[in-house]
Amino acid sequence: MPVISLQNINKIYPMGKMDVYALNDVSLEFTAGEFISVAGPSGSGKTTMMNIIGLIDRPSGGKVLMDGLETGALNRGELTKLRRETIGFVFQSFNLLPVLSVFENVELPLVIGKKREHKKKRKERVEYLLEEMGLLERRNHVPAELSGGQQQRVAIARALVTRPRIIIADEPTANLDSANGERILELMKKINREEHTTFIFSTHDPAIWKMANHVVFLRDGRIESEERR
Ligand SMILES: Nc1ncnc2c1ncn2[C@@H]1O[C@H](COP(=O)(O)OP(=O)(O)O)[C@@H](O)[C@H]1O
Ligand SMILES: [Mg+2]
Repeated sequence: MPVISLQNINKIYPMGKMDVYALNDVSLEFTAGEFISVAGPSGSGKTTMMNIIGLIDRPSGGKVLMDGLETGALNRGELTKLRRETIGFVFQSFNLLPVLSVFENVELPLVIGKKREHKKKRKERVEYLLEEMGLLERRNHVPAELSGGQQQRVAIARALVTRPRIIIADEPTANLDSANGERILELMKKINREEHTTFIFSTHDPAIWKMANHVVFLRDGRIESEERR
């Protein structure tokens, strides 16, 4: 069974008398453990699709299934619970808390979330991920003291700390130079292999989508083509 399935998804924004189809009859299936890229130019519908897959936004029409469960039937509370338990998010603009250290930023979801864990266990998980991201020696720094690439690695560690099955990253490399962007992808790929986390990341950059094993090409809200490798 696919981990995520979109069935005939539409997302329509009313614009005066016209309707804008941000997504137009999009159907696809993602399998657990895949390393997936949603690729397309600016305005093609990538962010809209990521938000719908991430259960942040609801479609205007069609169905979103997670492990076969029809999410349209869930109320807000149930949707939030499913999202917290299943999905980690990485954003284009990093979204770290400026007053917290690197360690505290990564630990935060374990302190405030439902998956509250003992201090020693939290420390082990945070330090393991900071080690994986090559940032252990930066643990006491604040985000402003780090480069963009380092900040995004902190954000990835934070997204992974609760062991979500799915990571959704909307243009995670868009604010990075190509060397740092590729390093981020290599680290995501390593976690994908080692922890079997499903990654779904959007990009307009061929160097980035080439690293995926399943690519969905979007254009004007429609799936233009799809590749599995
Ligand atoms: N809140 C909104 N209101 C109206 N139109 C929107 C809104 N969000 C996105 N759109 C439109 O939907 C289309 C897809 O946008 P988006 O998903 O952000 O694409 P991408 O992330 O690929 O740049 C664009 O034409 C955009 O202008
Ligand atoms: Mg976007």
